[in-house]
Amino acid sequence: MEGFAFWFPFFMSVLTIISYFYSLRNKRKNYGKNTKLPPGSMGWPYIGETLQLYSQDPKCFFDNRQKRFGEIFKTNILGCNCVMLTSPEAARFVLVTQAHLFKPTYPKSKENLIGPSALFFHEGEYHMRLRKLIQGSLYPESIRNMVGGIEDLTASALSSWADGRVITTFNEMKKLSFEVGILAIFGHLESHYKEELKKNYAIVDRGYNSFPTKLPGTKYKKAMNARMRLSEIINEISKGRKENKLVEKELLSRMLNSRDENGETLSEDQIADNIIGVLFAAQDTTASALTWILKYLHDNPKLLKAVKAEQKAIYESNGCGKFQLTWNQTRNMPFTYKVILESLRMASIINFTFREAVSDVEYKGYLIPKGWKVMPLFRNIHHNPEFFADPQKFDPTRFEGAPKPNTFMPFGSGVHACPGNELAKLEMLILVHHLASQFRWELVGSECGIQYGPFPIPLHGLPARFFKEE
Ligand code: HEM
Repeated sequence: MEGFAFWFPFFMSVLTIISYFYSLRNKRKNYGKNTKLPPGSMGWPYIGETLQLYSQDPKCFFDNRQKRFGEIFKTNILGCNCVMLTSPEAARFVLVTQAHLFKPTYPKSKENLIGPSALFFHEGEYHMRLRKLIQGSLYPESIRNMVGGIEDLTASALSSWADGRVITTFNEMKKLSFEVGILAIFGHLESHYKEELKKNYAIVDRGYNSFPTKLPGTKYKKAMNARMRLSEIINEISKGRKENKLVEKELLSRMLNSRDENGETLSEDQIADNIIGVLFAAQDTTASALTWILKYLHDNPKLLKAVKAEQKAIYESNGCGKFQLTWNQTRNMPFTYKVILESLRMASIINFTFREAVSDVEYKGYLIPKGWKVMPLFRNIHHNPEFFADPQKFDPTRFEGAPKPNTFMPFGSGVHACPGNELAKLEMLILVHHLASQFRWELVGSECGIQYGPFPIPLHGLPARFFKEE
């Protein structure tokens, strides 16, 4: 304690002095004649405002700064200079109209774990080629024949939960969204390959948020090893499909059959990195959305009753489960669909995204210097009362009319917008159909709250009990 009393004031004085010189240095930088940096605080030297961001709910960090500084403000997080943007016009500027001035940016350690050839990290022709392939396999016309497969996976997951034991909803939803991802990528896949993919992907997943070090035995190193095994498994599956000349419409076959204008095929690494990338993009996001839907429905009994009425009518028209759901039925669940949109708005699973300015850019008289990170804050837009009245209220009827342009972006916008959005919504509709027509659920523990990992999920992953209704 004595040591603390001595070192703390000393430490604070050193930080103050460094901070003073650091701010002088920043002031001296002359980026342009008439432009100035956006308002905001860069925090302490080197650590910036990282502690402020990580010591509280991130949404408070963003909300407080938006209140203090307005729609555009600067900060420094984890040693990176950032400009944060909270208006629909600014998000459109960065992601759509001036997207060429901002490139995707991810930490190298994450890029290596997912695979450097995955489309998120790229721009231009290569990105477009991969995007067309992935989008092509996820368009409504391509996924309409997946309804039966997703239904089987959903029904079997739900009946395995419904024995009254406590389950961690988010973890179970992760298993389900992984299975759906596998179905979309590979179509029918032999169970031993599925098990190998599941086992190794789980190790990658555990290492994703760990400290990136190559030291043996660490979570990150184990994840990198599992990542290599995933590539090997995908290469083996691809080899088998090529030998059997299988012409299917799912993503892997599209990738295997793809040729660029010079007749070049994709390399093994490009295929593996993009498949792992799609699995990564699909799993936690969809699982988080599914978990929030359950929480919101549970907390709003009147809405749950309306959803149950809509879904039971469909269930009964299908002979109480004798016939499978049809694609057209999934397109005709108007109230449930609004609940899904409102859940996506409320939870704003992707709170924000990152880009990096490729040159000095001017926005509304402010300078965004080359190399700075630029973050459109989707959640702040989704929770702005100017665009969504009484934003903290869960109210699906607000989606009776279309939201104002660029105010609703749960799946992003522009060239990197989510190609999996239709599949994600289909999974949600099918899960809600089964859940609301045949099951009830109780939450365990009364705690409310959000946990980030990195996507927002209900506290402790929403422990719950499920029961089949008679
Ligand atoms: C509720 C579920 C989901 C949400 C909220 C979501 C959200 C997003 C967002 C916001 C982006 C854009 C990120 C950016 O601009 O930086 C994105 C990109 C992407 N998503 Fe999703 N996503 C979901 C599900 C899925 C699914 C099911 C798949 C695939 C089966 C998928 C595949 C992708 C891919 C490949 C990209 C990168 C696109 C590119 O860089 O061109 N996502 N997602």
